[in-house]
Amino acid sequence: MNQNTAPLTDILENESLITGIRRRFGTPTYVYSADRIRENISGLRQNMTVHLQNSQLLYAVKANMNPVLMQVMLDAEPELGFDCSSPGELKIAREVGGKEAHIIFSGNYESPEDLKYALSAGVPINFDDITSYQRCREIGMPEVISFRVNPGEGKGAFPGIVTAGDDVKFGISREKIGDAYRMAMDDGVKQFGLHTMVGSGILDADYFAWNCDRVLEIATSLEQELGIHFEFIDLGGGFGIPYNENESPLNTEKLFAGVGEITDKYYTADSPTIIYEPGRYLIGDAGFVLTSVTGTKEDEQYYAGLDIGMNQFLRPVLYNAYHRIIPLGKAAHRETRRTQVTGQVCENTDRLARDRALPKLQTGDLCAILDAGAYGFAMASQYNGRPLPAEVLVDGDTVSLIRQRESLDDLTKNVAYPLG
Ligand code: LLP
Repeated sequence: MNQNTAPLTDILENESLITGIRRRFGTPTYVYSADRIRENISGLRQNMTVHLQNSQLLYAVKANMNPVLMQVMLDAEPELGFDCSSPGELKIAREVGGKEAHIIFSGNYESPEDLKYALSAGVPINFDDITSYQRCREIGMPEVISFRVNPGEGKGAFPGIVTAGDDVKFGISREKIGDAYRMAMDDGVKQFGLHTMVGSGILDADYFAWNCDRVLEIATSLEQELGIHFEFIDLGGGFGIPYNENESPLNTEKLFAGVGEITDKYYTADSPTIIYEPGRYLIGDAGFVLTSVTGTKEDEQYYAGLDIGMNQFLRPVLYNAYHRIIPLGKAAHRETRRTQVTGQVCENTDRLARDRALPKLQTGDLCAILDAGAYGFAMASQYNGRPLPAEVLVDGDTVSLIRQRESLDDLTKNVAYPLG
């Protein structure tokens, strides 16, 4: 089974549902489909279990840390674990019922406080560097120790989301990683894992087997060199989703068939648990932004301003990422215009789409920005004094507010003001 990547038409074409969400909760609002989350999880998990002897699926919480959505995932897949990059993510993962055995902490330049928090949660830690491990050792030792290897060139949908190869801040090189394990062995550590994460938004199924091959080659030679056995090999996330009609969905059946062949090649018996920790794939296409057109301008070009911009939907500006923008209701049938779609932020970089052929948008129209479930709300800020948007979950006929829109007062709630 491969991912159903059709837009969420059951929600988008249900006019009373959409206008109901606008009336009850206003815009901009992040809207999620519980059914799509369930489909994404069970499809991926099924392909994983068919092809891998011994595997574990973790959700990378950084993609979207709304606890209700994480609960939906956990209900769909009770064995689901969580990959957490900070104490905040770890706290939420535990609160929604993630079991310690299924949670991993993968930090970066972790502070003593971060490490103390992870240690007290009793979860394995993927150390980004030898110095991360040394910082942790001062505080305490986790039972299982894993290091992140930088296996060489990475891959990602944009240069900014490649996380291996030259000039990346992550991981330990092949030349140095043996020293890291040796140090831990000298400290008496007996249980080990290996971690890697080479990039995000990858749509090429074959790449995953290729990457698995080079990482297992490193793993098995480390095992021989050091006389250790890895309990797990965590191959990271990176599973892409198509953002435009020309891209094909990732073939996860082929992907795991390929990865399965590689793991069988290296481990005939006693295979380490193969872990994957996708974020985007599980939630990306399950969410969209419901937004209103707040104004239009006819100039040398045609501008349509939305009530969400780079402040609360950053991907188009940060990576030049493409997201489909769908006018809803009667707007869908108007003649098309080449449109500069912008937000309300006082920066000329605030563009959600440039020169996009769209039905001529008018003030008051509703639009959906698709595939906004991952790294959407998660990267939103209050820049330009805009309270954070609401989040809503659609589950069959039930529409629930899962995060209240912030109020203007929330903008100053943690400020020491007035002073004295
Ligand atoms: N594991 C680790 C250690 C990671 O750093 C990441 C993502 C993941 C798992 C999940 O990767 P995914 O399956 O979602 O590709 N903000 C960017 C994506 C940055 C990803 C960073 N690390 C975007 O909007 O495309």
